[in-house]
Amino acid sequence: KGELLKKVASHAKEYGFIFQSSEIYDGLSAVYDYGQLGSELKNNIKSYWWKSMVQLHENIVGIDSAIFMHPTTWKASGHVDAFNDPLIDNKDSKKRYRADVLVEDHIAKIEGKIEKEVTKASKRFDDFDRKMFMETNPRVQRYLGEIETIKARLKKGLEGDLEDLKKLIEDLAIACPVSGSKNWTDVRQFNLMFDTEIGSLSEGANKIYLRPETAQGIFVNFLNVQKTGRLKLPFGIAQIGKAFRNEIIARQFIFRMREFEQMEMQYFVKPGEEMKYYGQWKEFRMKWHLALGMGEENYRFHDHIKLAHYANAASDIEFDFPMGFKELEGIHSRTDFDLKAHEEFSGKKLQFFDPKDNESYVPYVIETSIGLDRMVLSVLAHAYTEETLEDGSSRTVMKIPAPLAPYKVAVLPLVNKDGLPEKAMEIANLLKLDHNIQVDVKDAIGKRYRRQDAIGTPYCITVDYESLEDNMVTIRERDSLEQIRIPIDKIQGEINERVSI
Ligand code: GAP
Repeated sequence: KGELLKKVASHAKEYGFIFQSSEIYDGLSAVYDYGQLGSELKNNIKSYWWKSMVQLHENIVGIDSAIFMHPTTWKASGHVDAFNDPLIDNKDSKKRYRADVLVEDHIAKIEGKIEKEVTKASKRFDDFDRKMFMETNPRVQRYLGEIETIKARLKKGLEGDLEDLKKLIEDLAIACPVSGSKNWTDVRQFNLMFDTEIGSLSEGANKIYLRPETAQGIFVNFLNVQKTGRLKLPFGIAQIGKAFRNEIIARQFIFRMREFEQMEMQYFVKPGEEMKYYGQWKEFRMKWHLALGMGEENYRFHDHIKLAHYANAASDIEFDFPMGFKELEGIHSRTDFDLKAHEEFSGKKLQFFDPKDNESYVPYVIETSIGLDRMVLSVLAHAYTEETLEDGSSRTVMKIPAPLAPYKVAVLPLVNKDGLPEKAMEIANLLKLDHNIQVDVKDAIGKRYRRQDAIGTPYCITVDYESLEDNMVTIRERDSLEQIRIPIDKIQGEINERVSI
């Protein structure tokens, strides 16, 4: 699976999905550019999200707020004081790590030992009961106890006691993954926000931040939108936009980037009703993922050990990436933390007048927040398939869900002469107002099929000599390789139906 990430990254580069940023200058770490196919894929994901969140919900509206915000925003939101990663250096290798990640990797090792015990035992008994074994085997029980103790100490350490965190790393005898050395520095907090300067503020007060989340642009506009849109609770505000974080661990391709895009929605509800909506949004967001058909077994919920500074409940939707199950989306119950903090720091009321109860209050918020780039990675990694076909030949095919595919259709005249390209253009003209399509005339037909497979085009329409006579064409389906022959005037309906969700 580790190989898969490398293969996906190189395939993405080779076919114009994703390039390293500023590659001609040897690149910029954890920053990427989307090429001609990557940006189509990204736009399709955005549109799938926007349609299902904004267009299909009468009580959700979308905005587009600025990346730069007044610096006090980030004081109020807690990001200036609390948006930190605990860093530790290894004194011998001079390598820097996130202390919590070192501990989590250690936990993963113990989990690995448990799995070994389970596998060993399962081979011994025919009617092996995993749950029963886990609950009764003394060695497994000891491992589970160890994990629980470590998690509790990690939580305590992350909540502020950095010395405890260092002691935990020493007690566990965690070695530097590079050198094996156990000689660690103290743990210290490192703020993840990028800052820069803006010209309009007075001297010394001109530091501003690049937003680390899009959510705050929604909070500070809460009343603007509510009043001008005449919205009543519960209602939501959605936004898609860039966010920036100075990530320390910058690896794993586009999984963790320093400049990335988020699709966030804040759902404002009456205090006391938040848990009902938290549950509903968890369910709705999972359905949104599953509707793409990338396999139910590849998704799961995971509750956080470390709650973010604003949340009273939080769950991730995790996807089975090439590196294993990792966070794809977060659903957070953010209470009234943000709006209350902005009231306090701005001196402006941010309350909703509830005409039903004749009272004003600060709403509670449920947030759904998904990383667009992470979503792209999940789609690419799931799509990447190497196949041997019945005739013994092999192909690399990107099984991208049809509604997200960069090109929906490629129209391929069998030969580049005798009126076939003209016929192909006729068909292209029928389709191109509704879909992004490509007409490809170069190379032998087999080679063209392979190229379309490699970029994930779900349908190829082949125009042959007979088409000139009977006005019929062949549609080839990417994954099943099934071919059907249909009249040209039925193509639009057929394609429309096949590429919609
Ligand atoms: N407003 C809440 C918030 O920002 P988060 O869990 O920090 O919560 C939400 O981020 C989502 O943004 C994550 O689930 C992930 O998909 C994406 N994300 C966060 N940091 C990222 C990074 N460095 N690179 C790519 N995506 C990231």
